[in-house]
Amino acid sequence: MNKISSTSLIGGAVVVAMAVGLYLGVAKRGLPPEGLGMGLWRKIKRKKKPLRVYMDGCFDMMHYGHCNALRQARAVGDQLVVGVVSDAEIIANKGPPVTPMHERMIMVKAVKWVDEVISDAPYAITEDFMKKLFDEYKMDYIIHGDDPCVLPDGTDAYAVAKKAGRFKQIKRTEGISSTDIVGRMLLCVRERSVSDSHNHSSLQRQFSHGHSQKFEDGGSGSRSGTRVSHFLPTSRRIVQFSNGKGPGPNAHIVYIDGAFDLFHAGHVEILRVARELGDFLLVGTHNDQTISAKRGTHRPIMNLHERSLSVLACRYVDEVIIGAPWEVSKDM
Ligand code: CTP
Repeated sequence: MNKISSTSLIGGAVVVAMAVGLYLGVAKRGLPPEGLGMGLWRKIKRKKKPLRVYMDGCFDMMHYGHCNALRQARAVGDQLVVGVVSDAEIIANKGPPVTPMHERMIMVKAVKWVDEVISDAPYAITEDFMKKLFDEYKMDYIIHGDDPCVLPDGTDAYAVAKKAGRFKQIKRTEGISSTDIVGRMLLCVRERSVSDSHNHSSLQRQFSHGHSQKFEDGGSGSRSGTRVSHFLPTSRRIVQFSNGKGPGPNAHIVYIDGAFDLFHAGHVEILRVARELGDFLLVGTHNDQTISAKRGTHRPIMNLHERSLSVLACRYVDEVIIGAPWEVSKDM
Protein backbone atom coordinates (compact mmCIF):
# COMPACT_ATOMS: atom_id res chain seq x y z
CA MET A 1 0.00 0.00 0.00
CA ASN A 2 2.83 2.35 1.03
CA LYS A 3 4.75 1.40 -2.08
CA ILE A 4 1.78 2.21 -4.31
CA SER A 5 1.24 5.63 -2.79
CA SER A 6 4.94 6.57 -2.92
CA THR A 7 5.06 5.48 -6.60
CA SER A 8 2.01 7.60 -7.42
CA LEU A 9 3.52 10.50 -5.46
CA ILE A 10 6.72 10.32 -7.52
CA GLY A 11 4.64 9.94 -10.70
CA GLY A 12 2.57 13.00 -9.74
CA ALA A 13 5.67 15.06 -9.05
CA VAL A 14 7.10 14.13 -12.45
CA VAL A 15 3.85 15.17 -14.20
CA VAL A 16 3.81 18.50 -12.30
CA ALA A 17 7.48 19.12 -13.11
CA MET A 18 6.82 18.41 -16.81
CA ALA A 19 3.80 20.74 -16.80
CA VAL A 20 5.79 23.53 -15.15
CA GLY A 21 8.65 22.99 -17.60
CA LEU A 22 6.24 23.09 -20.53
CA TYR A 23 4.55 26.21 -19.14
CA LEU A 24 7.84 28.01 -18.63
CA GLY A 25 9.07 26.90 -22.06
CA VAL A 26 6.04 28.20 -23.94
CA ALA A 27 5.69 31.26 -21.71
CA LYS A 28 9.24 32.21 -22.62
CA ARG A 29 8.45 32.05 -26.32
CA GLY A 30 5.08 33.79 -25.74
CA LEU A 31 3.21 30.83 -27.21
CA PRO A 32 0.07 29.27 -25.69
CA PRO A 33 0.42 25.79 -24.15
CA GLU A 34 -0.90 22.99 -26.35
CA GLY A 35 -4.67 22.90 -26.52
CA LEU A 36 -5.06 26.51 -25.40
CA GLY A 37 -6.23 29.09 -27.95
CA MET A 38 -4.18 32.27 -28.47
CA GLY A 39 -7.13 34.46 -27.33
CA LEU A 40 -7.56 32.64 -24.03
CA TRP A 41 -3.79 32.54 -23.54
CA ARG A 42 -3.58 36.32 -23.98
CA LYS A 43 -6.38 36.77 -21.43
CA ILE A 44 -4.58 34.54 -18.90
CA LYS A 45 -1.34 36.41 -19.47
CA ARG A 46 -3.11 39.77 -19.11
CA LYS A 47 -4.65 38.65 -15.85
CA LYS A 48 -1.12 38.17 -14.63
CA LYS A 49 0.11 41.56 -15.82
CA PRO A 50 -2.06 44.32 -17.22
CA LEU A 51 -0.79 46.01 -20.37
CA ARG A 52 0.22 49.50 -19.31
CA VAL A 53 0.45 52.31 -21.83
CA TYR A 54 1.82 55.83 -21.51
CA MET A 55 0.64 58.92 -23.34
CA ASP A 56 2.18 62.32 -22.73
CA GLY A 57 1.14 65.75 -23.83
CA CYS A 58 0.63 69.38 -22.96
CA PHE A 59 -3.17 69.12 -22.85
CA ASP A 60 -3.38 72.89 -22.98
CA MET A 61 -6.96 74.21 -23.18
CA MET A 62 -8.08 70.60 -23.00
CA HIS A 63 -10.54 69.76 -25.78
CA TYR A 64 -12.39 66.74 -27.14
CA GLY A 65 -9.47 66.00 -29.53
CA HIS A 66 -7.26 65.37 -26.48
CA CYS A 67 -10.03 63.27 -24.90
CA ASN A 68 -10.34 61.22 -28.08
CA ALA A 69 -6.57 60.64 -28.05
CA LEU A 70 -6.78 59.40 -24.44
CA ARG A 71 -9.74 57.17 -25.33
CA GLN A 72 -7.80 55.56 -28.18
CA ALA A 73 -4.66 55.19 -26.05
CA ARG A 74 -6.62 53.46 -23.29
CA ALA A 75 -8.02 51.02 -25.87
CA VAL A 76 -4.47 49.93 -26.76
CA GLY A 77 -3.87 48.55 -23.26
CA ASP A 78 -5.49 47.84 -19.90
CA GLN A 79 -4.21 50.83 -17.94
CA LEU A 80 -3.48 54.31 -19.19
CA VAL A 81 -0.87 56.48 -17.49
CA VAL A 82 -0.71 60.08 -18.71
CA GLY A 83 2.32 62.34 -18.43
CA VAL A 84 1.38 66.03 -18.27
CA VAL A 85 4.28 68.08 -19.63
CA SER A 86 5.62 70.76 -17.27
CA ASP A 87 5.06 74.48 -17.93
CA ALA A 88 8.84 75.01 -18.28
CA GLU A 89 9.17 72.26 -20.90
CA ILE A 90 6.22 73.63 -22.90
CA ILE A 91 7.72 77.13 -22.81
CA ALA A 92 11.07 75.75 -24.03
CA ASN A 93 9.54 73.71 -26.86
CA LYS A 94 6.33 75.45 -27.98
CA GLY A 95 5.90 78.74 -26.16
CA PRO A 96 3.88 79.49 -23.02
CA PRO A 97 0.76 77.41 -22.34
CA VAL A 98 -2.59 79.15 -21.73
CA THR A 99 -3.54 76.86 -18.85
CA PRO A 100 -1.01 76.23 -16.05
CA MET A 101 0.18 72.84 -14.82
CA HIS A 102 -2.28 72.41 -11.94
CA GLU A 103 -5.29 73.14 -14.18
CA ARG A 104 -4.02 70.82 -16.89
CA MET A 105 -3.63 68.11 -14.23
CA ILE A 106 -7.26 68.57 -13.08
CA MET A 107 -8.46 68.31 -16.67
CA VAL A 108 -6.49 65.16 -17.51
CA LYS A 109 -7.42 63.43 -14.24
CA ALA A 110 -11.10 64.12 -14.96
CA VAL A 111 -11.08 62.18 -18.25
CA LYS A 112 -12.75 58.83 -17.75
CA TRP A 113 -10.20 56.80 -19.70
CA VAL A 114 -7.25 57.93 -17.56
CA ASP A 115 -6.01 55.62 -14.78
CA GLU A 116 -2.94 57.46 -13.47
CA VAL A 117 -1.34 60.84 -14.05
CA ILE A 118 2.33 61.87 -13.82
CA SER A 119 2.93 65.60 -13.37
CA ASP A 120 5.83 67.58 -14.81
CA ALA A 121 6.60 65.08 -17.54
CA PRO A 122 9.36 65.92 -20.04
CA TYR A 123 8.38 67.08 -23.55
CA ALA A 124 10.65 64.54 -25.25
CA ILE A 125 11.15 60.90 -24.36
CA THR A 126 14.82 60.68 -23.37
CA GLU A 127 16.71 57.42 -22.72
CA ASP A 128 16.62 58.13 -18.97
CA PHE A 129 12.92 58.91 -18.84
CA MET A 130 12.08 55.88 -20.98
CA LYS A 131 14.03 53.67 -18.56
CA LYS A 132 12.09 55.21 -15.68
CA LEU A 133 8.82 54.52 -17.51
CA PHE A 134 9.73 50.89 -18.06
CA ASP A 135 11.39 50.12 -14.72
CA GLU A 136 9.48 52.29 -12.26
CA TYR A 137 6.08 52.70 -13.91
CA LYS A 138 6.10 49.28 -15.63
CA MET A 139 5.03 50.72 -18.97
CA ASP A 140 4.73 48.53 -22.03
CA TYR A 141 4.16 51.14 -24.73
CA ILE A 142 4.45 54.86 -25.33
CA ILE A 143 1.67 56.35 -27.44
CA HIS A 144 1.22 59.58 -29.42
CA GLY A 145 -1.07 60.89 -32.16
CA ASP A 146 -0.05 60.49 -35.81
CA ASP A 147 1.02 64.14 -36.11
CA PRO A 148 4.78 64.75 -36.17
CA CYS A 149 6.17 65.88 -32.81
CA VAL A 150 9.37 67.72 -33.61
CA LEU A 151 11.80 69.25 -31.11
CA PRO A 152 13.32 72.71 -31.68
CA ASP A 153 16.46 71.00 -33.07
CA GLY A 154 14.37 69.21 -35.70
CA THR A 155 14.56 65.73 -34.16
CA ASP A 156 11.60 63.48 -33.35
CA ALA A 157 10.50 63.65 -29.68
CA TYR A 158 9.66 59.92 -29.77
CA ALA A 159 12.75 58.67 -31.68
CA VAL A 160 14.11 56.76 -28.66
CA ALA A 161 10.81 54.95 -28.01
CA LYS A 162 10.41 54.13 -31.71
CA LYS A 163 13.95 52.71 -31.84
CA ALA A 164 13.21 50.51 -28.82
CA GLY A 165 10.08 49.14 -30.57
CA ARG A 166 7.89 50.46 -27.76
CA PHE A 167 6.01 53.17 -29.68
CA LYS A 168 2.42 53.01 -30.87
CA GLN A 169 0.46 55.59 -32.80
CA ILE A 170 -3.20 56.60 -32.62
CA LYS A 171 -5.18 58.73 -35.05
CA ARG A 172 -5.21 62.45 -34.35
CA THR A 173 -8.68 64.02 -34.28
CA GLU A 174 -9.09 66.42 -37.15
CA GLY A 175 -10.63 69.85 -36.87
CA ILE A 176 -9.58 70.82 -33.36
CA SER A 177 -6.44 72.09 -31.66
CA SER A 178 -5.49 74.49 -28.86
CA THR A 179 -4.28 76.95 -31.52
CA ASP A 180 -7.70 76.77 -33.15
CA ILE A 181 -9.43 77.55 -29.87
CA VAL A 182 -7.13 80.51 -29.20
CA GLY A 183 -7.92 81.71 -32.72
CA ARG A 184 -11.64 81.53 -32.03
CA MET A 185 -11.14 83.49 -28.81
CA LEU A 186 -9.11 86.19 -30.54
CA LEU A 187 -11.81 86.53 -33.18
CA CYS A 188 -14.33 86.76 -30.38
CA VAL A 189 -12.51 89.75 -28.88
CA ARG A 190 -12.20 91.38 -32.30
CA GLU A 191 -15.86 90.78 -33.10
CA ARG A 192 -16.96 92.37 -29.85
CA SER A 193 -14.79 95.42 -30.35
CA VAL A 194 -16.08 96.12 -33.90
CA SER A 195 -19.73 96.73 -33.33
CA ASP A 196 -22.68 95.27 -31.53
CA SER A 197 -24.98 96.38 -34.30
CA HIS A 198 -23.60 93.75 -36.68
CA ASN A 199 -25.72 90.69 -36.66
CA HIS A 200 -22.86 88.27 -36.18
CA SER A 201 -23.52 84.61 -35.96
CA SER A 202 -21.77 82.89 -33.10
CA LEU A 203 -18.05 82.59 -33.42
CA GLN A 204 -17.70 78.86 -33.52
CA ARG A 205 -19.78 78.86 -36.67
CA GLN A 206 -17.40 81.33 -38.28
CA PHE A 207 -13.92 80.18 -37.46
CA SER A 208 -12.37 77.28 -39.27
CA HIS A 209 -9.75 74.89 -38.04
CA GLY A 210 -6.68 75.91 -39.97
CA HIS A 211 -7.56 73.85 -43.05
CA SER A 212 -7.60 75.48 -46.46
CA GLN A 213 -11.30 76.18 -46.43
CA LYS A 214 -12.53 79.09 -48.49
CA PHE A 215 -13.26 82.36 -46.74
CA GLU A 216 -16.97 82.85 -46.54
CA ASP A 217 -17.33 86.38 -47.74
CA GLY A 218 -13.86 86.96 -49.13
CA GLY A 219 -14.02 90.63 -48.11
CA SER A 220 -11.99 92.62 -45.68
CA GLY A 221 -12.78 93.91 -42.20
CA SER A 222 -13.90 92.04 -39.18
CA ARG A 223 -15.75 89.33 -41.05
CA SER A 224 -13.16 88.58 -43.71
CA GLY A 225 -11.20 86.12 -41.62
CA THR A 226 -14.18 84.34 -40.20
CA ARG A 227 -15.07 80.98 -41.58
CA VAL A 228 -17.45 78.11 -40.96
CA SER A 229 -16.75 75.40 -38.41
CA HIS A 230 -16.98 72.04 -40.13
CA PHE A 231 -17.15 69.93 -37.04
CA LEU A 232 -19.82 67.28 -37.47
CA PRO A 233 -19.97 64.58 -34.85
CA THR A 234 -20.94 61.14 -36.04
CA SER A 235 -23.22 58.89 -34.02
CA ARG A 236 -20.22 56.55 -33.68
CA ARG A 237 -18.15 59.25 -31.98
CA ILE A 238 -20.97 59.99 -29.55
CA VAL A 239 -21.32 56.29 -28.78
CA GLN A 240 -17.54 55.99 -28.26
CA PHE A 241 -17.68 58.78 -25.67
CA SER A 242 -20.83 57.50 -23.94
CA ASN A 243 -21.06 55.19 -20.97
CA GLY A 244 -23.97 53.35 -22.57
CA LYS A 245 -25.62 52.72 -19.21
CA GLY A 246 -28.77 54.20 -17.77
CA PRO A 247 -29.50 54.72 -14.09
CA GLY A 248 -30.23 51.73 -11.86
CA PRO A 249 -33.81 51.10 -10.68
CA ASN A 250 -33.55 53.06 -7.42
CA ALA A 251 -30.89 55.51 -8.47
CA HIS A 252 -30.87 59.07 -7.25
CA ILE A 253 -30.59 61.05 -10.49
CA VAL A 254 -29.03 64.50 -10.35
CA TYR A 255 -29.58 67.00 -13.18
CA ILE A 256 -27.34 69.96 -13.95
CA ASP A 257 -27.43 72.14 -17.05
CA GLY A 258 -25.22 74.78 -18.59
CA ALA A 259 -23.25 75.97 -21.59
CA PHE A 260 -20.01 74.21 -20.61
CA ASP A 261 -18.23 76.35 -23.19
CA LEU A 262 -14.41 75.98 -23.24
CA PHE A 263 -14.66 73.12 -20.75
CA HIS A 264 -12.35 73.96 -17.84
CA ALA A 265 -11.32 73.05 -14.28
CA GLY A 266 -14.29 74.95 -12.77
CA HIS A 267 -16.72 72.84 -14.82
CA VAL A 268 -14.96 69.67 -13.68
CA GLU A 269 -15.29 70.71 -10.05
CA ILE A 270 -19.02 71.51 -10.23
CA LEU A 271 -19.68 68.21 -12.03
CA ARG A 272 -17.74 66.35 -9.35
CA VAL A 273 -19.79 67.98 -6.59
CA ALA A 274 -23.07 67.39 -8.46
CA ARG A 275 -22.25 63.71 -8.97
CA GLU A 276 -21.62 63.32 -5.24
CA LEU A 277 -25.23 64.36 -4.57
CA GLY A 278 -26.61 61.21 -6.15
CA ASP A 279 -25.89 58.02 -8.07
CA PHE A 280 -26.33 59.19 -11.64
CA LEU A 281 -25.44 62.56 -13.14
CA LEU A 282 -27.45 63.78 -16.11
CA VAL A 283 -26.03 66.92 -17.75
CA GLY A 284 -27.99 69.21 -20.06
CA THR A 285 -25.94 71.23 -22.57
CA HIS A 286 -27.81 74.24 -23.95
CA ASN A 287 -27.90 74.74 -27.68
CA ASP A 288 -25.87 77.43 -29.47
CA GLN A 289 -28.86 79.68 -30.21
CA THR A 290 -29.91 79.73 -26.56
CA ILE A 291 -26.37 80.65 -25.41
CA SER A 292 -26.07 83.37 -28.06
CA ALA A 293 -29.38 84.82 -26.97
CA LYS A 294 -28.50 84.76 -23.28
CA ARG A 295 -24.79 85.60 -23.30
CA GLY A 296 -24.19 87.58 -26.47
CA THR A 297 -23.82 86.78 -30.15
CA HIS A 298 -20.09 86.09 -29.82
CA ARG A 299 -20.78 83.06 -27.66
CA PRO A 300 -20.47 80.10 -27.50
CA ILE A 301 -16.93 79.56 -28.73
CA MET A 302 -17.30 75.78 -28.97
CA ASN A 303 -20.42 74.47 -30.69
CA LEU A 304 -23.06 72.27 -29.09
CA HIS A 305 -21.50 69.00 -30.20
CA GLU A 306 -17.99 70.00 -29.22
CA ARG A 307 -19.20 71.08 -25.78
CA SER A 308 -21.24 67.89 -25.35
CA LEU A 309 -18.26 65.65 -26.17
CA SER A 310 -16.10 67.41 -23.57
CA VAL A 311 -18.82 66.92 -20.96
CA LEU A 312 -19.31 63.27 -21.95
CA ALA A 313 -15.59 62.55 -21.55
CA CYS A 314 -15.71 63.69 -17.92
CA ARG A 315 -15.62 60.81 -15.44
CA TYR A 316 -18.34 62.33 -13.22
CA VAL A 317 -20.92 62.45 -16.01
CA ASP A 318 -23.25 59.56 -16.74
CA GLU A 319 -25.37 60.97 -19.56
CA VAL A 320 -25.86 64.16 -21.56
CA ILE A 321 -28.96 65.80 -23.03
CA ILE A 322 -27.51 67.40 -26.16
CA GLY A 323 -29.40 70.68 -26.59
CA ALA A 324 -31.28 70.87 -23.30
CA PRO A 325 -33.94 73.57 -22.85
CA TRP A 326 -32.98 76.70 -20.91
CA GLU A 327 -35.88 76.33 -18.54
CA VAL A 328 -36.57 73.24 -16.51
CA SER A 329 -40.31 73.22 -17.11
CA LYS A 330 -42.81 71.02 -15.33
CA ASP A 331 -42.82 68.65 -18.32
CA MET A 332 -39.05 68.55 -18.46
N1 CTP B 1 -4.15 65.07 -30.13
C1 CTP B 1 -5.10 64.48 -30.97
N2 CTP B 1 -5.97 65.24 -31.67
C2 CTP B 1 -5.94 66.60 -31.56
C3 CTP B 1 -5.02 67.22 -30.69
C4 CTP B 1 -4.13 66.43 -29.99
O1 CTP B 1 -5.12 63.25 -31.10
N3 CTP B 1 -6.80 67.31 -32.28
C5 CTP B 1 -3.21 64.23 -29.40
C6 CTP B 1 -1.75 64.48 -29.73
O2 CTP B 1 -1.34 63.79 -30.91
C7 CTP B 1 -1.05 63.95 -28.50
C8 CTP B 1 -2.05 64.25 -27.38
O3 CTP B 1 -3.30 64.53 -28.02
O4 CTP B 1 -0.86 62.56 -28.58
C9 CTP B 1 -1.63 65.42 -26.54
O5 CTP B 1 -1.43 66.53 -27.42
P1 CTP B 1 -0.67 67.83 -26.95
O6 CTP B 1 0.67 67.47 -26.47
O7 CTP B 1 -1.53 68.58 -26.03
O8 CTP B 1 -0.35 68.76 -28.17
P2 CTP B 1 -0.90 69.06 -29.57
O9 CTP B 1 -0.76 67.88 -30.46
O10 CTP B 1 -0.14 70.24 -29.98
O11 CTP B 1 -2.43 69.43 -29.34
P3 CTP B 1 -3.00 70.88 -29.64
O12 CTP B 1 -2.57 71.23 -31.03
O13 CTP B 1 -4.49 70.80 -29.53
O14 CTP B 1 -2.40 71.79 -28.61
